[in-house]
Amino acid sequence: MEDAAPQTIHLSDYTPPAYLVDKVELTFRLDPERTRVLSRIAFRPNPESREREFFLHGEGLELISSRIDGAEVTPDLVEGGLTCEVPDAPFTWEAEVEIAPVRNTALEGLYMSSGMYCTQCEAEGFRKITYYPDRPDVMAVFSVRIEGDMPVLLSNGNPVSSGDGFAEWHDPWPKPAYLFALVAGDLVDHPGHFTTRSGREVALNIWVRPGDEDKCAFAMEALKKSMTWDEDVYGREYDLDIFNIVAVDDFNMGAMENKGLNIFNSSCVLASPETSTDANFERIEAIIAHEYFHNWTGNRITCRDWFQLCLKEGLTVYRDSQFTADMRSAPVKRISDVIALRARQFREDNGPLAHPVRPESFVEINNFYTATVYEKGAEVIGMLKRLVGDADYARALDLYFERHDGQACTIEDWLAVFEEVTGRDLSQFKRWYSQAGTPRLKVTENFKDGEYTLEFEQKTPPTPGQDQKLPQVIPIAVGLLGPNGDEVVPTTVLEMTEARQSFSFSGLAAEPVPSILRDFSAPVILERETDNAERAFLLAHDTDPFNKWEAGRALAREGLCEMIVAGAPPDAAYLDAVQAMARDDALDPAFRALALGLPSQDDMAQTLHERGHTPDPQAIWEALETLRQARAQHCQDLAARLHAQYQVTEPYRPDAQQTGARALANAALGLISRLDGGAAAQRQFDTATNMTQQLYALSCLLQAGKGEDAVARFYDQWRHDRLVIDKWFMMQVLHAEPAEAAATTERLTRHSDFDMKNPNRFRATLGALAANPAGFHHASGAGYRLLADWLIRLDPVNPQTTARMCSAFETWKRYDDSRQALVAAELDRVLSTPALSRDTTEMLSRIRG
Ligand code: PHE
Ligand code: ZN
Repeated sequence: MEDAAPQTIHLSDYTPPAYLVDKVELTFRLDPERTRVLSRIAFRPNPESREREFFLHGEGLELISSRIDGAEVTPDLVEGGLTCEVPDAPFTWEAEVEIAPVRNTALEGLYMSSGMYCTQCEAEGFRKITYYPDRPDVMAVFSVRIEGDMPVLLSNGNPVSSGDGFAEWHDPWPKPAYLFALVAGDLVDHPGHFTTRSGREVALNIWVRPGDEDKCAFAMEALKKSMTWDEDVYGREYDLDIFNIVAVDDFNMGAMENKGLNIFNSSCVLASPETSTDANFERIEAIIAHEYFHNWTGNRITCRDWFQLCLKEGLTVYRDSQFTADMRSAPVKRISDVIALRARQFREDNGPLAHPVRPESFVEINNFYTATVYEKGAEVIGMLKRLVGDADYARALDLYFERHDGQACTIEDWLAVFEEVTGRDLSQFKRWYSQAGTPRLKVTENFKDGEYTLEFEQKTPPTPGQDQKLPQVIPIAVGLLGPNGDEVVPTTVLEMTEARQSFSFSGLAAEPVPSILRDFSAPVILERETDNAERAFLLAHDTDPFNKWEAGRALAREGLCEMIVAGAPPDAAYLDAVQAMARDDALDPAFRALALGLPSQDDMAQTLHERGHTPDPQAIWEALETLRQARAQHCQDLAARLHAQYQVTEPYRPDAQQTGARALANAALGLISRLDGGAAAQRQFDTATNMTQQLYALSCLLQAGKGEDAVARFYDQWRHDRLVIDKWFMMQVLHAEPAEAAATTERLTRHSDFDMKNPNRFRATLGALAANPAGFHHASGAGYRLLADWLIRLDPVNPQTTARMCSAFETWKRYDDSRQALVAAELDRVLSTPALSRDTTEMLSRIRG
C-alpha cells in the first residue's frame, strides 16, 4: 500500500466507535519470523453511534484469512487497516495474521528483546499485532492462549491453564487494547506475596533474565509499599490474583502499566547497591509505584481518546509524587520535582514544541508523551488539590472512582466530580488544560500604615497556534516574615483569577519580607524585583523549605547572570550564604546537597533568554566553572569536614537518610576535587563499595581531566553489566570538554558495545551529548552534525526513539545567528531524508517552525 501524507488528528473530530467489543480471544503461535495471531472478536453495533462502517486498524500485518460468523470474507485492505461488509447485528469476527517479531526494531507491537518475546501496545501498537479497533474507548474482556516452546508464557489477568508449550490467560476486567501484553521467554522469577486489606491473596512476581535475579528485591519491596499506600491513601485495592512485572532490555520508555503484567525497561526495575546509584533506587521505587497506581488511574478508569492522556498520566504522576513524598522527604521530593519541571517542561513550554496539557491535535500520538502532559499535568492536579483542600480532594476522588470505574473518560468527567463535590465552577481552571505556555507572574509590593499589599500581574506569552491567552486561576501560597526573621503571617493561599489582582494584609508592625509561591504552588515564572540581601535573608529564615532552597538558587542564578553578562566576579553574598547553609548541621543533609547544586547550563541559557540576552553556551560553561572553582576555595575546610563527617558506615540502604548523607558527602567531594587534582576522588573511586560513590568519583575525575585510568578500570569491572556500561558511555560524553564532546561521542559510537538498536545505549550516548550543552552547541556545529547523522540512521530502525531525541534541538532559536544557521541546515538535512518517519517528521517540522 502507498503511504498517504500524514494526517493531523483533531480532538474536535472525536466520534464514538461504530462497533463495540464484548469479548476477544487471541491465540499466538510464536515464531521469530512467522508468528501467527488468531483472533476471535465478538462485535456489536454501538447504540451511541450512527456510523455503520466497519473499520479495523492494522499495520504491517499479513492477513491470512478472515471470517464473519464462520463464513470466509474478503475485506478491503486500506491505509492503516481494513474495512468489511458486516451484518447489522452482533457478529463474530475471526482473523489469522502473520507477523515477524524478530524484525520489529521499532519496539512497538510484538517484538523480541534478548531472545524473549514481549509487547508494547500503548499508544497504537496493538494494530501491529492483529486487526482491531485500536482505540482506548473500546474496552473488552480478553482471553489469550500462547503457544511456544518457551518456559515462561505470560499475558494479562489470571492464569487459566498451562502445559507443555502453551499457557492460557483470562483477564476479567474490560480493557482497551493498549493495555494488552504478552511475554514469552526463558525467564526467572523473584516471587513475593501480598494480602489486600479485604483479604485477597495476590501472587507477585518479578521476571528477569537468568543472572539478574539478585537485583529484584528492592523493586519487590517497592511494589508492596505501593500496594499498601494505594489502599491507605486512596482506598484502592488490587483486583487480580496475580501481578507480574517483567524486565526487558530493549524498551522505548521507562515502563508500561499493562493490566496485571507491567513491562519495565530493565533500567527501571533492576537494582543492587554495587550497580545502581541512590538516584536509580529512588527512580525505580517511583516508577514501580507509578505503574502500579495506573491500575486504577489508567486501567480501571481509562482515557476516551489520546487527547485525554493527561487524565491518566498527570494524575498518576501526581500520585507517585505523593507516594515518594510519604516514603522519603517531602521537601526534597518537591525541590527535585521543580528542578526537573523547569528543566524539561518549562523548556518545552517556552519553545516551538509548546502544547497544552490536553493537546488539541497531533500527527503521531507517541510525540505527546511529554513533560507537559506528564509533569505539568501533575502540577495542575496539585493546584486543584490546593484550591479545593485535602478533604474535598479526597471526596472528589472517591466519586471519580465510584462513578467512572470501567469507563473511558475525559478531562470534563474529571473536573465534573470536583465541581459536584465542591460546588465550584471550574471553567476558568480548565484553561490550565487548554492553554499552553508558562505564565509569568509579576509581583510588586506596597507597605503603608501597617497594610501590606501584593499586586500580581499574570501574562502568558504566545505559543504555537495560540496568540492570545486568557487569565488563569493561580493559587499563590504566601507567607510573610518580619524584619527579625519571624514568620508574621503563616502560609495563606491567594486565589488569583484576574489578569491583575491585589491582596492585602493588615495590622503589620513593620514592612515584611514576602515568601511567595511557597512549595511552588503553581507552575509559573515568578518575576519580582529584589536584591541579594533579601534573598540571603529568605535563605536564612524562610520556614518553607522550597522557598528557602529557591532563595539560594536565585542567589546563584543572579550571580551567574552577572558573571556571564557583565563579566562580574563570583558573588560574595552567594558564597557566604551557601557556605552557611552547607555548614548548618541542623538541616537535612539531602537538603544541603540540593542547596549546593547549581543551576544547570540549560537553566542559565533559559534565564538569559527570558531576559532578552542571547545565551553563549561557552560563556555559560566557563562562568559555571569559575563559580565552582571559587566555591571550592571559599568552602575548602568545610568540604573536607563534610566529606569525612557524612561517610556512611552502616551497611548500604537506599533510604532517604543514607541517600542524603551520601549526596552531601559527594557534593563535598566535588568541591575538594576542584583543588586537589582529583586525589580524593581517586581514593573514593578505588575504595568505593557502592555505585553512588564509584560513579560520582568517576565524574569528579573526568571533570578534573584525570579520568583516563578510572574509565578503563570501570569498563573492565563492569563490561558484563549492560546497565552499568550505559553509565560508562554517558559519563564520558557528559563530562567531555565543550570542544571535545562531539569527537568523544563519535568515538564511543564506534565502540564495540555501542548498539543503536538498544534505546538505553543510544540515549546514554547521543542523549548525553544533548545533555552537555556547551559541547552540543559548540560553535563548530560538530555536535549538531553528529546528532543529525544519528537521527537519520536511527529513524528507519526506531522512529519513536529518534523522534524523542529531536527535542535536543528545541531551544535552537535562543542562540546566535551562526548557530541558528548551523541548526537550520541540519534540521533541513534530516527533514529531506527519503521515507523519514511520521514521528520524526512531525517533531522536526514543529521545531523548524
Ligand atoms: N504509559 C507509560 C507510563 O506512563 C509510558 C509509556 C507510553 C510506555 C508509551 C510505553 C509507551 O508509565
Ligand atoms: Zn504513566
